Amino acid sequence: MSIYSASTTAPVNIATLKYWGKRDKSLNLPTNSSISVTLSQKDLRTLTTAATSETFTEDKLWLNGKLESLESERTKACLADLKKLRKELEDSDASLPKLSTFGLHIVSENNFPTAAGLASSAAGFAALVVAIAKLYKLPQDMSELSKIARKGSGSACRSLFGGYVAWEMGDLTDGEDSKAVEVAPLGHWPGMKAAILVVSDDKKDTPSTSGMQLTVATSDLFQHRIKEVVPARFIEMKKSIAEKDFPLFAELTMKDSNSFHAVCLDSYPPIFYLNDTSKKIIKLVHKLNELEGKIIAAYTFDAGPNAVIYYEEHNESKVLGFLHTVFNKVEGWKGEVKSTDYKFDFDDQLYKGVSKVILTEIGPGPQDTEETLINEQGLPK
Ligand code: PMV
Repeated sequence: MSIYSASTTAPVNIATLKYWGKRDKSLNLPTNSSISVTLSQKDLRTLTTAATSETFTEDKLWLNGKLESLESERTKACLADLKKLRKELEDSDASLPKLSTFGLHIVSENNFPTAAGLASSAAGFAALVVAIAKLYKLPQDMSELSKIARKGSGSACRSLFGGYVAWEMGDLTDGEDSKAVEVAPLGHWPGMKAAILVVSDDKKDTPSTSGMQLTVATSDLFQHRIKEVVPARFIEMKKSIAEKDFPLFAELTMKDSNSFHAVCLDSYPPIFYLNDTSKKIIKLVHKLNELEGKIIAAYTFDAGPNAVIYYEEHNESKVLGFLHTVFNKVEGWKGEVKSTDYKFDFDDQLYKGVSKVILTEIGPGPQDTEETLINEQGLPK
């Protein structure tokens, strides 16, 4: 039997201008545009192999070694779109094998713990869409494919590009103009680094979809955010990236994280994603910037308590030295990091709220790979 297969890797992205709010829940159309930085796949990536064969009777998906149900409407929507595009190709060229009529076997693995709340769904849906598009030899570009990934998870559309990425909200009801575009490639401003502080938390966070729905329905502040704050910030943040203006980029990033968590608090009943550790990390970053007399680090938090701290490579010893002073007992430091020599007050028990440090940097979009997760029988290796 002949098995066709293709593999790709895809990155995680962390928004600096947050997507929060859907105007269409089934198509994942947002109420505002957003911007993100794509992170390096050396530290965080999903590897996905997609295979198909006349002998595969149904679509199957294995995630991190476990067979998953394909009942999710999100995944079904992505597969249906990709099969439709393949069918169009087959209809235009009768010599092509009819892959669109075969079952798909998809095997996906993360190189980081899925449960840590690190935007794994973004990398996962991006990898799924790109692997199948490659298997089907689809001619669509990354922006076109981003519209399919968007239906899996909104933020996934931004993982189709490396570097600095925008998701333009669009205004069409069918979502055809709601897609990811490159703001600037990795090489434009390559020195962007990120320190992720994985914050331990026992409570389960409100899932992003239900959280967004509640905010849209109940927060008054949210209307101000989407009408006034984000549209202006979207333009300013793109400008800060074009000009590699870190202090401006950082200030906008921190303010936007705070604005997003403010509309969560303004939802009724309120949603809390930040915990005490997160709040103390916010204060620490402001302390660092104050001690330096300029903004050299920016925090941002998604729908959970983990902190992502962006900084520029030339400030690495200052930023990591400062964080190391507080969190040196936490695992994950790499290379030589020396604690800061200046004195500042901090809670000496704060490190207990952080389970891991992940030091990473800006990175490229999805990458082709020869590595495969599927054996000759079309099953996970
Ligand atoms: O794509 P979702 O449904 O997981 O939502 C992501 C929402 C945030 O991470 C909080 C913000 C963003 O823009 O990524």
